[in-house]
Amino acid sequence: MKVAIISYSFSGNTKRACLFLMKKIKEKSINADVLDLKPAKEEKAFLLQCRDAFYKHKPEIQDPAFELSAYDFVVFASPVWAFTFAPALRVYLESVKDLTDKKCACFLTYGSGMGKGKAMEELEGILKAKGGRILFSKNMPGAKTKDKEYLEEQFKSLIDIICT
Ligand SMILES: Cc1cc2nc3c(=O)[nH]c(=O)nc-3n(C[C@H](O)[C@H](O)[C@H](O)COP(=O)(O)O)c2cc1C
Repeated sequence: MKVAIISYSFSGNTKRACLFLMKKIKEKSINADVLDLKPAKEEKAFLLQCRDAFYKHKPEIQDPAFELSAYDFVVFASPVWAFTFAPALRVYLESVKDLTDKKCACFLTYGSGMGKGKAMEELEGILKAKGGRILFSKNMPGAKTKDKEYLEEQFKSLIDIICT
């Protein structure tokens, strides 16, 4: 079993949750790699970030060709940005041609919670359209990603799915 965790994080919440998940998976002696998606040029201003997410801009990202075929399970993660997920993950997903029968999970971290349902629906729709089998999906407040007990509880079923 080999797990890939593909994520984008601007201010660290999503990344913190991904690193926690990776640690938990590795503790079960399962291989897990994290790919941090990095736009070549990253907007730093909130309104420009919102504009880019809302209008589905596609930034160039580093390592866009990270190959998933060697992985049995792929986790996709992003913050909610302007009622959708971040552009870097959108660009990466475009480069993924086929997820047929690939076991997938996704989670989003959010602030106010506005648009989190829509963002998740969209992400799940893209994974399903590529043939992915979504076994876990979750929205979690970004502020709670510092709480290890919370993360443990939220990821419990995902870790069980991966490790059994
Ligand atoms: C540009 C931008 C847009 C955001 N839009 C939303 C939103 O529509 N809904 C929401 O609940 N939170 C929104 N947030 C809050 C983030 O989703 C939240 O803080 C998240 O945990 C940040 O993750 P990160 O630290 O991994 O970047 C937004 C944050 C930024 C920077």
